[in-house]
Amino acid sequence: MSETSPSRQPQVVLGVSGGIAAYKACELLRRFSESGHQVTVVPTAAALHFVGEATWAALSGRPAATETWDRVHEVPHVRIGQRADLVVVAPATADLLAKAAHGLADDLLTNTLLTARCPVVFAPAMHTEMWEHAATQENVASLRRRGAIVLEPAVGRLTGVDTGKGRLPDPDAIFAACRRVLSGRAGQADLAGRHVVVSAGGTREPLDPVRYLGNRSSGKQGYALAVTAAARGARVTLLAANVELPDPAGVAVVNVTTALELREAAVKAAAEADVVVMAAAVADFRPAEYAAVKIKKKDGAEPAPVALVRNPDILAELSGSRARPGQLVVGFAAETDQVLANGRAKLARKGCDLLVVNEVGEGRAFGTDTNEAVVLGADGSETPIAPGPKEDVADAIWDLVAARLGVPSH
Ligand SMILES: Cc1cc2nc3c(=O)[nH]c(=O)nc-3n(C[C@H](O)[C@H](O)[C@H](O)COP(=O)(O)O)c2cc1C
Repeated sequence: MSETSPSRQPQVVLGVSGGIAAYKACELLRRFSESGHQVTVVPTAAALHFVGEATWAALSGRPAATETWDRVHEVPHVRIGQRADLVVVAPATADLLAKAAHGLADDLLTNTLLTARCPVVFAPAMHTEMWEHAATQENVASLRRRGAIVLEPAVGRLTGVDTGKGRLPDPDAIFAACRRVLSGRAGQADLAGRHVVVSAGGTREPLDPVRYLGNRSSGKQGYALAVTAAARGARVTLLAANVELPDPAGVAVVNVTTALELREAAVKAAAEADVVVMAAAVADFRPAEYAAVKIKKKDGAEPAPVALVRNPDILAELSGSRARPGQLVVGFAAETDQVLANGRAKLARKGCDLLVVNEVGEGRAFGTDTNEAVVLGADGSETPIAPGPKEDVADAIWDLVAARLGVPSH
């Protein structure tokens, strides 16, 4: 069994089997290494045709474990699995899933899968025909029945010119699923049966066909909220304003550009939502006039001033006219100074139930993968959220929401 102590780095075994998507496991490995996990890569012989041992060793900082018959005195076919806190196989080929389902153990990875007593995550990748074949589906069902987590493959471009279901899920999505398993949140379903609406990104207010007024919001915190809500069982509508991130799996995405479009989409989605979280950065003002033709500079002339008009206050509108009884509205405030005082004033002005206050600027919050915040409640509560990955911040926000929805939280 794995030896755990609070200070010990989580031990992850990254099994890689022989699919064309093996190169994407390099990105997954980096995500694990950079976030303090110790990773042992166990590639199959077929996987080494796609990505060589040197890449795995260099990226993980330790030798890749490729052979059952190497360093036999260390009994690697037993020890690697026994020491693991998590085994993740990405990509998992049809062949690997079949072997795992049937308990075959003819190489180091399949031996490791039999000796591991920790959670096991498989991220399958193969052609649609292979995925849909009854043999593969039965193997997946039997692995799931035994408690393994088998992620659904994504839909999209496959090897060659084919398109369909069978693509390896995005490395970020695999990493997020693994982190939930390691944090004990896997299977948490306290938002099941709830419809949540999340806005993310930043609106753009066009000046002319090529220019706009915008802001620096990347949408990462909003996307983390959408992904974690879906993982906790919610039906999620994500209103995405100019976000350059892949659509999260299992989430309905509505793309918008301007504050006016976001308002329309938010009011429509909120009509049947239990929770609305407005994480998008909405422009307070938009140009009063839109020039249908690109604005030109004129020789020697000073630039014309840009007249602005107010955009609607979407958060105040949603807070003031709850579309459903008991609907919760959560706002975000990005502040650069007097963070808590400004946050309290904004909460009172907007009338929302919770306000997540971030300090932004100088590399904080915008575009980064980590965040920290204080959540102010209309009931006077003040809950600090420790610095951490945006998924953890999102989970802490959902904990507060779930408690207010009357659902026992994690
Ligand atoms: C170019 C190429 C790409 C392949 N891609 C996949 C794939 O994406 N998924 C899959 O299940 N098998 C794929 N295969 C077949 C596997 O490599 C083959 O089944 C192999 O025996 C798997 O061994 P392993 O499961 O021990 O890694 C591919 C084969 C080749 C030659």
